[in-house]
Amino acid sequence: MALLIRNGEIVTVGSRARADICVEHETITRIGKDLEAPPNAEIIDATGKLIFPGFIDPHVHIYLPFMATFAKDTHETASIAALIGGTTTYIEMCCPNRNDDALEGYQLWKSKADGKSACDYAFHMSVTKFVKETESQLRQVVSDGTASFKIFLAYKNFFGVDDGEMYQTLELAKRLGVIVTAHCENAELVARLQQKLLAEGKTGPEWHEPSRPESVEAEGTGRFATFLENTAATGYVVHLSCEKALHVALQAKSRGVRIYVESVLPHFLLDKSYAERPGVEGMKHVMSPPLRAKHNQSALWNALAHGSIDTVGTDHCPFDTAQKLLGKDSFVNIPNGIPGIEDRVNLMYTHGVKRGRLDLDRFVDAASTRAAKLFGLFPRKGTIAVGSDADLVIYATNYRGVVSAKSQHVNCDYNGFEGMEIEGRPSVVTVRGKVQVRDGKFVGERGRGRMLKREPAYF
Ligand code: URP
Ligand code: ZN
Ligand code: ZN
Repeated sequence: MALLIRNGEIVTVGSRARADICVEHETITRIGKDLEAPPNAEIIDATGKLIFPGFIDPHVHIYLPFMATFAKDTHETASIAALIGGTTTYIEMCCPNRNDDALEGYQLWKSKADGKSACDYAFHMSVTKFVKETESQLRQVVSDGTASFKIFLAYKNFFGVDDGEMYQTLELAKRLGVIVTAHCENAELVARLQQKLLAEGKTGPEWHEPSRPESVEAEGTGRFATFLENTAATGYVVHLSCEKALHVALQAKSRGVRIYVESVLPHFLLDKSYAERPGVEGMKHVMSPPLRAKHNQSALWNALAHGSIDTVGTDHCPFDTAQKLLGKDSFVNIPNGIPGIEDRVNLMYTHGVKRGRLDLDRFVDAASTRAAKLFGLFPRKGTIAVGSDADLVIYATNYRGVVSAKSQHVNCDYNGFEGMEIEGRPSVVTVRGKVQVRDGKFVGERGRGRMLKREPAYF
């Protein structure tokens, strides 16, 4: 089906112009003034609206066995929620644990998405141990189009790798031209601090943050950077949460280490007082790294505005109230994570662009373009250009609303951002030229999404 989108203000990194966009056979075929409609095209009037490239969430968990339970979404629910919020591509963490076979895990994660997602998707492959067959297995995963790895310097004995395994992963990644994303903490220190706090009778969710303090995240970030420096690999710190860790990452960058930084939605908008709320309200805000002291938020916003933080993801990871209550007697049993896939674009637009913290250019870059470039999707995704996939977000800046669990599409019974205002939302969202969303409603084709095959980037 062809589309002609008339008279919107097209916003890409480095340019902003009013024009028409013509879409045929899933791609953008023409951009210009007063374009002629192809035969049988649907015509969409975008006068007064912004048109963004489809947004990319570089860090989500959908299928995730974790902390004695499973994250709540399926690819069907998560992709519909993503699209309603303007995200047209997500990259899911494929997370087999240490006891699983990596290739079997990779096939399992793929099977959960196949034919189910309404938007396009890719994977980061987690390396949770490094044994004799790991190299050949990872080579197969990369040949299959999954050209980025993930390591955890946390979650001891489950997802976590030791320093030797980190070295082997980075050394192989360098040879394969593959970027390595990393959860940066210190698994041993976290385990020791957890035991110490519990022994002191400190069991509530407010003790989660003290068990993984900023210094522990800064140490993990520094160690990752040092290993990158000594393997010449390229790395990407996921969900960086605090000024201390940011400082370490930027110091490494300034001495030439190839390190990129992602922060995620919760750390820009929520602080540790949310996790200090009594009972299950606090548990709903338990994630790792934890919510931090409020002063960190301005450091993150400033770094994002200047591009020192490269991308904004969500670390979408929904556990419902009943699951959170698994940790009612001990914070170490509270499943870590919070949903965000549906709200990232609107909340970053409102609390970033509209509140003057972020310019429109950087917003598009951080929420779409830079992830496309870092993860081998550009210019197919992440921009509006002739030849690119027609993933488009026609954005109504006059919309006013409030984030709420009552109206969300994510499969979770709470929303960690409950009550926050949004000033703007997608009016139309397309995936490869098909209208999937109109004004907050999914109107499209379930299962339309395809797995995106990516080449090694050889930075
Ligand atoms: O708390 C979090 N972030 N849960 C998901 C797993 C991870 O560390 O990304
Ligand atoms: Zn993590
Ligand atoms: Zn994560």
